[in-house]
Amino acid sequence: MDFLPIFLNVRSRPCAIIGGGEVAARKCRLLRDAGARVHVIAPRLCQELKQQAENREIVHHEKEYDSSGLGSYALVIAATDKPEVNQRIADDAKRENIPVNVVDDPDAGSFIMPSVIDRSPVVAAVSTGGASPVLARLIRARLESLIPAGYGRLGELTARYRDRVKAAFANADDRRRFWDRILQGSVAERVFSGHMEEAEAVLEKELESFSPSRGMGEVYLVGGGPGDPDLLTFRALRLMQQADVVVYDRLVAKPVLEMVRREAERIYVGKERDRHAMRQEEINELLAKLAREGKRVVRLKGGDPFIFGRGGEEIDTLAEQGVPFQVIPGITAASGCATYSGIPLTHRDYAQSVTFVTGHLKDGTMNLNWHQLAQPHQTIVFYMGLMGLPVIIEKLVEHGVSPQMPIALVQQGTTHLQRVFTGTLENILEVVEREKPKPPTLIIVGEVVQLHEKLSWYKGEKPAYQGATSPVQPGTELKP
Ligand SMILES: C[S@@+](CC[C@H](N)C(=O)[O-])C[C@H]1O[C@@H](n2cnc3c(N)ncnc32)[C@H](O)[C@@H]1O
Repeated sequence: MDFLPIFLNVRSRPCAIIGGGEVAARKCRLLRDAGARVHVIAPRLCQELKQQAENREIVHHEKEYDSSGLGSYALVIAATDKPEVNQRIADDAKRENIPVNVVDDPDAGSFIMPSVIDRSPVVAAVSTGGASPVLARLIRARLESLIPAGYGRLGELTARYRDRVKAAFANADDRRRFWDRILQGSVAERVFSGHMEEAEAVLEKELESFSPSRGMGEVYLVGGGPGDPDLLTFRALRLMQQADVVVYDRLVAKPVLEMVRREAERIYVGKERDRHAMRQEEINELLAKLAREGKRVVRLKGGDPFIFGRGGEEIDTLAEQGVPFQVIPGITAASGCATYSGIPLTHRDYAQSVTFVTGHLKDGTMNLNWHQLAQPHQTIVFYMGLMGLPVIIEKLVEHGVSPQMPIALVQQGTTHLQRVFTGTLENILEVVEREKPKPPTLIIVGEVVQLHEKLSWYKGEKPAYQGATSPVQPGTELKP
């Protein structure tokens, strides 16, 4: 390391910024966030600093820098636009052993300022040692999205309980296990979702009953999206990285599965047409059993768990058995496939509504309200409809839809293997015969499909994710 990272306490202490421009204003914001009493030495101030000076939030010394009086400051920042003045400030400060930072010149001062992610009391600071402030800002932006805003509240909560936890668990290992459970489990999740009182109540309960070796786990019903791992939500990713065990099925794309914590046990319960790895009732029971063993269980499903995903049944069993759970929405295939194939489902020139229906055949038929589906100015999205495509076409035309109505089939949407086939109700079966699309395939029927030719943007390049070898597997039709 070229620099020693430390966090300095400047609360209520006088700190000087020399220079009154935009850069000085930025530094001033940081110092004030840390509670410093900021003095700005400059003949002129930018608008932001001027306002703060008028409001007496900072002290303005209206003069050029003259080498006098630095000794009274806890910290100095040289932010003038004259390198020779900045150098002089740095020399003066160093002579007095005052930490000094020179903007845009890491070598001239005695410290550099990192990019800061502020979730007070949790603060993360990123530095590239002055090599590339832009890179530091980029990394900061990444971290911003990874560290939920609620971490600040979580930090405050844990600070309040620190002494009590120490008194309750004399053994450092037990304390670590306790905090692990609190910080990665339901207390943290409640804090993140803004339920502070509930979080505190659960923490109190944990404090009374926690034994390092037992306790109830939790089930996270996570929507894994249609295939592209970039489409996961932050919450999904966070919970996946805390999992002790992941229960997943066939529709979950491999690159998405690879985002689960490496050490987590993996249980495949995939369902395919005519072939079950595990019956739905068995899956429901398995989830409850794993949670009762104290595990954090991620139930990972393709798309959104509540859209043709039987997520409701799974949490129904959990609710009945008093097992805590959360549901994390995912991008459903209709959204993912339509977007990645340039088909705006409700483009207002063509459609006023969109309907998601299951095209799953039962005894060779589909019990749908065909009269309603045949109404004009709407888009219909069929899930699980590939096998039943001839029935879908026959029924729509029988109920008055034009044989010229555009239709698209999107296979393995949002993955680098995505294929989009378009045609009309009249000729799409020829396309199917020729191209032989495989499940998972989504069917979109409506005038909006004609926009695909103009608006298609996704090039289906293979992503560079490590180990991401194969996205959603083509295979047999999936059951709901
Ligand atoms: C049992 S449903 C599950 C839907 C899922 N819960 C969702 O919200 O997307 C399975 C059907 O979703 C559609 N599907 C899911 N992922 C897809 C993808 N990546 N490309 C195309 N269709 C997909 C297919 O029609 C497939 O037969």
